Amino acid sequence: MTGLSPELQQRLRAPLKIGNLVVQSRVLQSPLSGVTDLVFRRLVRRFAPHSLLYTEMVSATGLHYMRQLPRIMELAPGERPVGIQLFDCRPDFLAEAAQRAVAEGADLVDINMGCPVNKITKNGGGSSLLRQPELAEAIVRSVVQAVPVPVTVKTRLGWNDQEINILEFAQRMEQAGAQLITVHGRTRAQGYQGAARWEWIRRVKAVVQIPVIANGDIFSVPAAVACLELTGADGVMCSRGTLGYPFLVGEIDHFFRTGEILPPPTPEQRLLCAREHLLALWEYKGEAGLRQARKHLAWYAREFPGAAQLRQAVAEFQTLEEGLALLDRVLARWQGQEWRPCA
Ligand SMILES: Cc1cc2nc3c(=O)[nH]c(=O)nc-3n(C[C@H](O)[C@H](O)[C@H](O)COP(=O)(O)O)c2cc1C
Repeated sequence: MTGLSPELQQRLRAPLKIGNLVVQSRVLQSPLSGVTDLVFRRLVRRFAPHSLLYTEMVSATGLHYMRQLPRIMELAPGERPVGIQLFDCRPDFLAEAAQRAVAEGADLVDINMGCPVNKITKNGGGSSLLRQPELAEAIVRSVVQAVPVPVTVKTRLGWNDQEINILEFAQRMEQAGAQLITVHGRTRAQGYQGAARWEWIRRVKAVVQIPVIANGDIFSVPAAVACLELTGADGVMCSRGTLGYPFLVGEIDHFFRTGEILPPPTPEQRLLCAREHLLALWEYKGEAGLRQARKHLAWYAREFPGAAQLRQAVAEFQTLEEGLALLDRVLARWQGQEWRPCA
């Protein structure tokens, strides 16, 4: 891996300024639906105490008709810095939802303009806003007027290869008052396939003044460095690389601060983290948490020698006790061993 150029090193050590919010880390944890709840964020935060972390995306329309606050919007007391992400196509509902987000303690409000899922886009939200830049602009203006915290946008390169409009779109978001833009270097049509096209992020950086965060394929320290060298972005956002691996944001952050690569967590550390995750999800959400934990444990199990068998076993446990017993058996096998991923 190439080290950081002196220019980049200097930039990375300066705090990230997002409007009136100052963040002491340039590595962010992305919003991940079904993943980045309060339990997951607590694990990420342990290794990356200064990073900006996001909730899962919250529907503004859903919130409008709901009395009770949805679980996915709950923040832990004192948890900071944290952003609540909203999705929708209605400027008025989004403004209202943003006010509730701020009342809950959000340091910023992010608007999702990148989700590719049909259920979201056919209702005018997520990446379909790339095709309606006037509406996207109206949304940002409406939310900016409604809340005193920074408003940010997370989006993609465009709808498909024929409609890559991120350069104009980013400028519009900036003009409407967005204080930061996160660009996932894929089109909506790409979904999560193919390599993220970081070169587009460099072009975005050249046309706006607000901070630009690069997203897509940040799976390791070397990837984060390569991405920042190529794009000149103001920071990176980790996503799928954190599934079953809440250490990633902290590893990259540590490297940016010190130039030192942390040794990979041992199998024991990974399994203890998985165990804690399971227990905390159960305590927080009961049976629903147990179902979610199976998905998380399958991710933790990736790359362990015998991973297929392990994944099968974690998919099958029925109770908390069975889950814990399974992890304890695996832990006993791995105690004291170094991490050596399967080939
Ligand atoms: C399971 C899953 C859930 C996601 N949920 C959200 C979400 O709620 N909001 C959002 O803006 N992006 C969401 N994304 C997209 C990611 O934040 C990110 O933009 C994308 O995965 C690209 O980064 P990567 O290549 O590093 O994974 C989700 C992605 C995955 C895989």
